[in-house]
Amino acid sequence: MAPPSHSSSAAERDCASDTDCAFGHDLARALAERPRRISPKYFYDVQGSQLFDRICELPEYYPTRTELGILTQRAGEIAAQIGPRAEIVEFGAGSLVKVRLLLDALQSPQRYLPIDISGEHLEAAADALRADYPGLAVQPIVADYTRPFALPPRLEGAGRRVGFFPGSTLGNFDPDEALAFLQQAARLLRGGGLLLGVDLVKRPALLHAAYNDAQGVTAAFNLNLLARANAELGTDFDLDGFDHAAFYNAPLRRIEMHLVSRRAQAVTLHGQRHAIEEGEAIHTESSHKFTIEGLRALAVRAGFGIGPVWTDPDRLFSVHWLPAAQ
Ligand code: AVI
Repeated sequence: MAPPSHSSSAAERDCASDTDCAFGHDLARALAERPRRISPKYFYDVQGSQLFDRICELPEYYPTRTELGILTQRAGEIAAQIGPRAEIVEFGAGSLVKVRLLLDALQSPQRYLPIDISGEHLEAAADALRADYPGLAVQPIVADYTRPFALPPRLEGAGRRVGFFPGSTLGNFDPDEALAFLQQAARLLRGGGLLLGVDLVKRPALLHAAYNDAQGVTAAFNLNLLARANAELGTDFDLDGFDHAAFYNAPLRRIEMHLVSRRAQAVTLHGQRHAIEEGEAIHTESSHKFTIEGLRALAVRAGFGIGPVWTDPDRLFSVHWLPAAQ
């Protein structure tokens, strides 16, 4: 790691990779602005990804197992909507468990196109699937799917082009970002559709428990952002100086995660000291919860039609089939 620099442009030139540059730049901005806010995408270094995998197994964190239950039980109905010889475009090289459920149910799927900003993740995902699905063309695409990008031409004889975006990752976008993502997806998937998993609004106590687990894994996930900054950017955050705070903001229908300073302190980034008062917070994540009607209205605004929606018996989570017009 290059020594810290006082000039932000020099700091950007000095940083070790594009991700470092973006993280350093965004953290500097977050520390300077009020309220302080940084994108949740920076949670996912190796340690953060492992912590997220542990969150998915927690008894309080219902979304992962509930969505898996829906995908398992409704696989036949979902496959009927998608049709034969489909091309599956996964936004994020996500949980291979979920895409396998889909691939197992589909009739002769032709191609799997996982899109992820991290080439490493993609290659691991691709290799694992190639071995188990010899008839499936697996073609990873390194891209940031929240920005404009192109897909390769359709394969001759292929069926529908179908997007797969499980896990309620859509909920981590701001409403305008969610709309922009869906608009791009509707364009890319013309004539096909999107299979989208989103978390539903529910009693605040259940939501609160899911983001404040008894083992403290979610707290560690949140605080790991500061550990990552110390490791990659040379900041001097004192991890014991911050508390994990997660609460349901009912008017905005979202869980908010913050890191709240326990005392007046200062942190140095790129040679610049930033004072943080006792009780001041860095907003690290929003996790929006949807109603079925609200999600459908958003999808229609983005250019999708409305298809079936599948939920669990307690209506905790929803999986939507959204057809994309030709
Ligand atoms: C990835 N994303 C959908 C998770 C969520 O529930 O918003 C991330 C997460 N944050 C805390 N726990 C899980």
